[in-house]
Amino acid sequence: MRHILVTGGAGFIGSNLINTLLLTGKYKITCIDNFDDFYPVAQKEWNIKDFLQHPNFTLIRGDIRNLDDLNKAADVDTIVHLAAKAGVRPSIQNPKLYLDVNINGTQVLLDYARENEIKQFLFASSSSVYGVNENVPWIEEDPLLPISPYASSKVAGEMLGHVYSHLYGIRFVALRFFTVYGPGQRPDLAIHKFFKAISNGDPIPVFGDGTTSRDYTFVEDTVRGIVAALDYTRSSYEVINLGNHRTVSLASLIEAIEDVCGKKAIIERYGEQPGDVSQTFAEISKAQEYLSYDPSTSLEQGLSAFHEWFREFYAEKV
Ligand SMILES: NC(=O)c1ccc[n+]([C@@H]2O[C@H](COP(=O)([O-])OP(=O)(O)OC[C@H]3O[C@@H](n4cnc5c(N)ncnc54)[C@H](O)[C@@H]3O)[C@@H](O)[C@H]2O)c1
Repeated sequence: MRHILVTGGAGFIGSNLINTLLLTGKYKITCIDNFDDFYPVAQKEWNIKDFLQHPNFTLIRGDIRNLDDLNKAADVDTIVHLAAKAGVRPSIQNPKLYLDVNINGTQVLLDYARENEIKQFLFASSSSVYGVNENVPWIEEDPLLPISPYASSKVAGEMLGHVYSHLYGIRFVALRFFTVYGPGQRPDLAIHKFFKAISNGDPIPVFGDGTTSRDYTFVEDTVRGIVAALDYTRSSYEVINLGNHRTVSLASLIEAIEDVCGKKAIIERYGEQPGDVSQTFAEISKAQEYLSYDPSTSLEQGLSAFHEWFREFYAEKV
C-alpha cells in the first residue's frame, strides 16, 4: 500500500485531502501537524477527529522543522507538503516566522525526503506568487512579482524544490492553489469570515471598493488535482496552476453569500490592504492536460456545501 506523508494534514486542505485518500482504501497516511495556533486549534482537532480510529491513519503531533519529529514517519514513498504559516496579511506583521516555517521547514522536509529516498514530493504553492503581475490569466511561465513575505516564501519553496529535484532526483511538483474554499475553510479567509458575520448580524469588513476579484476554487476540485498529481511522472520538476479559470468580484461574492444565507450583509468599508493583490485568475490548460484536472463545482454549489459544514461545525461549537 502506498504510504503518503501529509504535512499540515489537520488543516483545511490537508484534512479534506486525507478524507478523500482514506476513502479510496488505497493509501496509508501519516499526518504531521504541530496544531499551530494561527486559528483555533479546536477546528483542527475537529477536522481530524474521524481519522483517528482509521487503521490506515497515523498522526504525528510534531513540527516539520524538526527532523526527529519527521523521522517518526518510516517507509514513506510520497510527501504532500501542505504545512505552512498561511495568510498574506499576518506575514507582513511577522515575516521572520513565516520564512522560518515556510522556507526552513520545506528545506528540512526536503532533507528528510533525500535521506529516506522519497521520490515524489508535492508542494502547496500559491497564486500569490504572481503578485502584481497584471497580465491575466496567469500561466505558469509568467514572471513572479510577489508582494508579501508569505508569497515570497512560496517562491522560495518552489525554488528549493528545483534544487532538490536536480541534485537528488526527487520529483517535485509545485501546485499553485487559488483561493480555496469549502468545508473546513480557515476562519481567517473571506468566505468563512463573511458567513460568520452575516449569520451573527455583524458588519463584514470589505477592503477596497468591491472590484477586487479572486479565482475561487472549491476544495474538492483542488483535492482532485492533488490526488492526480500523486501519479504525475512526466517530468522531474513541474509547476501547475490549480485554479478555477473563473474570477468573481468581491461584490458578487458577497451577493452570492447573501443568497445562500438568506440574509443581507452589513458592509463596513476599509482601504485596500498592503500585500493584497487586485485580482487572481488562473490559466489551467497545463493542469487539464497533465492531471485531467476539471474544476466543475459552481460557486453556488460550493458556497452551499460550505454553509452546510458551517452550520454543523458551529452548532456543535468546539
Ligand atoms: N487555503 C488557500 O486558499 C490556499 C491558497 C494557496 C496556497 N495554500 C497553501 O496550502 C497549504 C494548506 O493551506 P490551508 O488553507 O489548509 O491552511 P491551514 O493553516 O488550515 O493548514 C496548514 C496546517 O499546517 C500546520 N502547520 C503550520 N506550521 C507547521 C509546522 N511548523 N509543522 C507542522 N505543521 C505545521 C498548521 O497547524 C495547519 O494545520 C498551505 O501551504 C497554504 O500556504 C492555501
